[in-house]
Amino acid sequence: MKKNENIVGVSILSSDFFDIKNTMKKINSSDVDFVHLDVMDGVFVPNISFGPHFISSIRSHSKKVFDVHLMVKNPYPYIRDFVNCGADIVTVHIESKNAMKSLKLLKSLNKKCGIVINPETSYKKVRRFLGIVDVVMVMTVHPGFGGQKFMENQLLKISNIATMIKKCGRDILLEVDGGINDKTLKMAKKSGANAFVVGSYLFNQPDFVVAVSNLKKV
Ligand code: DX5
Ligand code: ZN
Repeated sequence: MKKNENIVGVSILSSDFFDIKNTMKKINSSDVDFVHLDVMDGVFVPNISFGPHFISSIRSHSKKVFDVHLMVKNPYPYIRDFVNCGADIVTVHIESKNAMKSLKLLKSLNKKCGIVINPETSYKKVRRFLGIVDVVMVMTVHPGFGGQKFMENQLLKISNIATMIKKCGRDILLEVDGGINDKTLKMAKKSGANAFVVGSYLFNQPDFVVAVSNLKKV
C-alpha cells in the first residue's frame, strides 16, 4: 500500500455469486486492501447471506486479507469455524450476544478482531472494547443489505470514536461500512475514518480496477 492512500476493502455481497471466480480475479488484480465478507443469519439482520463453506471456497482464489463481518445474533459458537475457513480479521457487533467473549477467543487464536456498531447504538458503548480490538467499524447503513444510502447522521459518531481511539493510544483502525462512494468516503474520512468498505458502488463502475485506484486517492 502506498503512503497516504486510503485503505479500501470490497464487500462482495452485491456481486454476482455465479461469477465469483471472475470477481475474485478482478479483486486480485486491483489495489483493494481487503475482501469484506458479510455473514448474515436472518435473525440479527433481516437477510441471509453465506457461511464458512462459501468463504473457504473462495479463500484459495485470493491472497488478499479476508475481513469477515458477522451479522449474527450469537457469533461465539461460530468463531472457530470462521477462523478455520480463512478469515484474517473477524468483526462482531456490539449488539450481539457474547461480543467480548468472541473477541477474546479471536485474540487467543492469534487473529485480528473488531467491534461493529449499529446506527442506533451510542458511541460510548465502544469504549470498553478499545483495549482489545484492532478495528472499530461504524455502520453507516442499517445492516442487512448492500446498496443503501449512506447515513450522514453517523458522521458525528465517527468523529467521537476517532477522538476516543486517539486518547486510548492503541493502533486501531476506524472503518466505515455502508453506502460508501467517492463522495461519502470523503465525508467519513474528514470525520476521522481511515478504512472504507465499498460494495455496490465498485461493482457498478465500468472498470473495477480503475475505480478502486481512484477511491484510494480520494
Ligand atoms: C451491509 C453490509 C455492507 C454492505 C456494503 O449490511 O455490512 O458491508 O454490503 O455495501 P454497500 O457499499 O453497497 O452499502
Ligand atoms: Zn459489512
